Amino acid sequence: MAETSLLASIFGDLYPYKDRFKPYSCIPEKGRDPNEIYNVLHTIAEEEDKFWETGLISGTMYHGGKDHYAFLNRVFSLYSYVNLLQRDICPSGTKFESEIIAMVAKLLHGDAVKEYDPQDDVCGTVTSGGTESIFNGVYIHREWARNEKGILEPEMVVPVTIHPAFHKAAHYLGIKMISVPVDNNYEADVEAMRDKITPNTIALAGSAGNYPYGVIDPLGKLSDLAIENNIGLHVDGCLGGFILPWIEKLGYDIPPFDFRLPGVTSMSCDTHKYGYALKGTSTLLVRNHRLLRYQFFSVADWAGGLYASPTVQGSRSGGLSAATWAAMVTMGEEGYMKAARLIMDTADKIRQGIATIPEIIIAGKSTFLISMISDQVNMYHVNDYLITKGWRMNGCQNPPGFHFCVTLRNTLPYVAETFVRDLRDGVAYAKNPPQPFPKSGALYGLAGSLDGQAFLQQGMLDFIEATYDEV
Ligand SMILES: Cc1ncc(COP(=O)(O)O)c(C=O)c1O
Repeated sequence: MAETSLLASIFGDLYPYKDRFKPYSCIPEKGRDPNEIYNVLHTIAEEEDKFWETGLISGTMYHGGKDHYAFLNRVFSLYSYVNLLQRDICPSGTKFESEIIAMVAKLLHGDAVKEYDPQDDVCGTVTSGGTESIFNGVYIHREWARNEKGILEPEMVVPVTIHPAFHKAAHYLGIKMISVPVDNNYEADVEAMRDKITPNTIALAGSAGNYPYGVIDPLGKLSDLAIENNIGLHVDGCLGGFILPWIEKLGYDIPPFDFRLPGVTSMSCDTHKYGYALKGTSTLLVRNHRLLRYQFFSVADWAGGLYASPTVQGSRSGGLSAATWAAMVTMGEEGYMKAARLIMDTADKIRQGIATIPEIIIAGKSTFLISMISDQVNMYHVNDYLITKGWRMNGCQNPPGFHFCVTLRNTLPYVAETFVRDLRDGVAYAKNPPQPFPKSGALYGLAGSLDGQAFLQQGMLDFIEATYDEV
């Protein structure tokens, strides 16, 4: 059993149910009554739903409407047991996934690629989430560079704000990931990235928008840089890809971030975030079929017959793709626009409120995600206070702060106003905190030293191990 780490203690009790519901360490000899089991699970789910139903949670529940989820669950149940790998008995999977990709490609201006090269034709695959979309995007670029340019020691150049999924992909795929500091606006520093390009560089990456600050990197310039060097550019639209198009249509000033840019070779866009699908799907869009082919895998001489799969996963549930398709078709442009309007109204109200709190600075050019820092108070003390009021923001570091990723659930009428009030009170609390060290930032300081980083990394791995320990 892993040692109870400092991190585990910060994340709270890992096993809150052990004294209330029978823990299992082996399969019960006799199966238990389904109704009884359902009731146990229902009780737990209802209790956990209470955390986010308040609307005080940043990100996480992007839709948050119980009727919407109930509808998607109904659709999921029709195909939950269907294996998408076996299309002969589930051609429905081809309908769902080809149409999801066509709809997302259209949303991200896939049509524009033909203006630059009539051979291009945006295509893609449905994946299990943002991390897998990014993994596949990185993999495609590695294979492209190896096969067509003979690059055997691949490197990628990314801003420090890029999501850790890129580093994870690089770790798995043997790619050197070069992280470059961002500029004063928290956007990718294009000239600094240019300096890091070598003959081994396979691709650049930028975000629309990035996780820490929600800002859109200068993707137009990164696109030019990629073309200049004949390398790829992956746009991470996992978070913003499904909401920025609507925000742009609402009239906000959003620079082109998608396939309108000639250097964009792939883009990840999560259906399970602002696409309002169930958790477990994302899309990876690629500029042309020639590139996408590098992602596919097949074996012709296996004893088990012919095997081919498009993504990292093998067998997959048809239910998730059916529910994703159903989410998109039932939301429609009208539903997505309405949701974006509500989200931006809430975000605008929060921004207006923050403007009246001189101690708080918004980091970068924000849209649906507002990242807050301060040069006057310790933001982790502010966060400690917000936690006592039921809020759950996402902690950030370098500089210390937190962000509020506004979702549809956060558009409940009282949320913006209450947040600004509690934020103001939090600033007052931070000026005279009851204890010198804030709880929510206790560990962030450690990341400033190599020893501290090693300690944190170990603690995080201990934490993961503990989540699988027998109770
Ligand atoms: C910008 C960005 N990229 C990638 C990801 C990874 O997505 P997932 O957690 O679905 O794997 C996230 C998740 O929050 C994100 O915000």
